[in-house]
Amino acid sequence: MTPTRTWGYAYSLLMDTSRFPLIPGAQPMLITKGDGVWLEAASGQRILDAGGGAIVTNIGHGRPEIAEVAAKALKQLDYVVPLFATESRVALVDEVSDNWLPDPSWRCVFVSGGSESIDAAIRVAQLHHVACGRHERHKVIGRDVSYHGATIGALAVGSHDRRRKGLELTLPAMPKTSHHDPEQLEKIIEIEGAHTISAFVGEPVIGAAAGAYVPPDDYWPTVSEICARHDILVIADEVMTGFGRLGTKMGHEALDFTPDIIAAGKGLGGGYVPIGGVYTRADVVEPIGNTDLALMFYTFAGHDLCCAVSRKVLQILREENLVERAEIMGTFLRDRLDAEFGEHPNVEEVRGRGLLQGLGLVADRDSGAPFPRSAAFADQVAGIALENGVWVYPSGSGSFDDAVMFGPPFVATEDHVDQMVNVARHAIDAAAAALT
Ligand SMILES: Cc1ncc(COP(=O)(O)O)c(C=O)c1O
Repeated sequence: MTPTRTWGYAYSLLMDTSRFPLIPGAQPMLITKGDGVWLEAASGQRILDAGGGAIVTNIGHGRPEIAEVAAKALKQLDYVVPLFATESRVALVDEVSDNWLPDPSWRCVFVSGGSESIDAAIRVAQLHHVACGRHERHKVIGRDVSYHGATIGALAVGSHDRRRKGLELTLPAMPKTSHHDPEQLEKIIEIEGAHTISAFVGEPVIGAAAGAYVPPDDYWPTVSEICARHDILVIADEVMTGFGRLGTKMGHEALDFTPDIIAAGKGLGGGYVPIGGVYTRADVVEPIGNTDLALMFYTFAGHDLCCAVSRKVLQILREENLVERAEIMGTFLRDRLDAEFGEHPNVEEVRGRGLLQGLGLVADRDSGAPFPRSAAFADQVAGIALENGVWVYPSGSGSFDDAVMFGPPFVATEDHVDQMVNVARHAIDAAAAALT
């Protein structure tokens, strides 16, 4: 079976562009199987999943025990409206609260993905203030650069310029502050007026928009202190960094702060099911519960199958010590990247935490001059790496325009890391040579 319509970024919606976006002239690859760190194409080609898909796959592909849990769940229940409890919902709440959140008293709601979790987190923050009588607090401060998802709300608080393009006038205007300088936040709050701001949202480590950018050590503690002083809720977008990716249970632990609200998806379902979640302290949601404000759920929120599978994913992460492994393998990957790219003329920076590592790509390391956007350099690198059997995640926007990320399954070995680094080296050299 060969895909006849495009299966690229826009899936089959843009049917006239029947091509694979990363490899010029190529047809989309038909992926038929996943096993451990590997994806297998119908042609027989094996692809090392160094990007964990879109930084999703954590326990590895093709786990039979997950398939068993999924089959059992579906035999027992299909759709149950989110107003009811189910055994799998209750069990997942317990698993997450007892093992992954800052405190077991935190509250959870499950949604169907990362963008939904950000939208829901914004609604929780907003309604918290309204319930407390602070009706004017209607703005959420985001950061330049950032990516929080593709719904209108998530795009509005984000600043990924390529992904907002053409929608700028549609998106509600939200204030943006620096991704690295906490003092700028103080100034923005002064300009906007603290009484108009409900929340601040940021990724502990910036993923798709900045290729695994880690802010200075004092960034998050200072941001948290400033927000607390102004009664502004801190939303940590842990869609990428949550559930072990940074080598800590949740990403905020690695960055030394505790948010008021966490939005997290991706690794929660390990790539086996579409799921996300919003998690917060009881005192954030209790005021809402005392009003007639509707904290509306999504139809598929906390789908029983997704909850059953996600609970198993989280149990595997714990029982196989995979979070610790993410830390150990993250250090190994980082050392290999530093050794290979520390002096590379087209790599401005090696960055990241745990198993979320990135390379900032530039035309000239010394001057920091970027490649022209028309060169789509990160995409070229990803395309060449893929032709050589490794999937790396092309990323970047704005001042971080070209980057690639490595976010492999936590079960990756040293040999896998060697292979992904060697292929990335070849791909960057080849893509740069093609431009000269
Ligand atoms: C930090 C972050 N937040 C939100 C999202 C949106 O998640 P989803 O694509 O599952 O809606 C993403 C997706 O890449 C992300 O990286």
